[in-house]
Amino acid sequence: NYVIFNGNIIERSEANVDIEDRGYQFGDGVYEVIRVYNSKMFTATEHLERIILSAKKIGMELTYTVNEMKELLTQLITKNSLEHGTIYMQFSRGVAPRNHPYPPSDVAHSFVAYTKEVARPLANLENGVKAILKEDIRWLLCDIKSLNLLGNVMAKQEAVSQGCYEAIQHRGEVVTEGSSSNISIIKDGTLYTHPASNLILNGITRRKMIEVCEKDGIPVVEEPFSLNDLNTADEVFLSSTTSEITPIVQINEKQVGEGVPGVLTKRIQGLFDAAIE
Ligand code: PDD
Repeated sequence: NYVIFNGNIIERSEANVDIEDRGYQFGDGVYEVIRVYNSKMFTATEHLERIILSAKKIGMELTYTVNEMKELLTQLITKNSLEHGTIYMQFSRGVAPRNHPYPPSDVAHSFVAYTKEVARPLANLENGVKAILKEDIRWLLCDIKSLNLLGNVMAKQEAVSQGCYEAIQHRGEVVTEGSSSNISIIKDGTLYTHPASNLILNGITRRKMIEVCEKDGIPVVEEPFSLNDLNTADEVFLSSTTSEITPIVQINEKQVGEGVPGVLTKRIQGLFDAAIE
């Protein structure tokens, strides 16, 4: 099993993180999760452009181009004979004596990537999942895919401890996103999802979903929607790289619609499947 460590492909057992890596001490860095289907990365360009942008937003100028990263990741997929799975990759601001200000700009970023075999979540796609509601207590730069995930982790844990798959977060009355996914609702044949702003991660799956809906003539409204809209929605689903388009059939104690995946959700799943192939 091989990993990318600071630009080289090495055995995982040879990779060592320094105890003063800023990613480790401050969560000072950015990451991506990319899906691999049939040994090929799905929407790689979008993910790699996003990590460059996330880095830029925290004052890190990555030294790799999209194509250089693509090249390395493709080599890693081949080396690990990965067919269906994910790539996790992250850049931290590097290794320096612990001190809050950024280290000098000649300190090299730490770049790590590894692969994992993951099957498509067929049972969840078919049957849907349950979710809880959770006040969104995270910071105000949720558009950055940063290593600081404590708010997300705590929200997810609360969902899991209640036997649920996801926590649907809201700031007051406004629904933002899941702990590791974006949230959309269907009302009277129209899809509503929170606009790309500082309050959510602009998911690549979300963008693909909007693209296939618009092509198929399903109206999409990128506007904030309320808890009341969520509670009275015909259909609710989440989207992410690993969960794809997963129906949400129950929120807290209340069924969504008939308590089974909705008609339009299934249609969007089909459109998404076609985009994968
Ligand atoms: N999570 N919102 C948050 C907070 C996320 O962490 C994610 C992805 C998404 C969906 O983004 P995308 O469609 O680009 O995967 C939305 C990844 C998969 C993770 O942290 O594992």
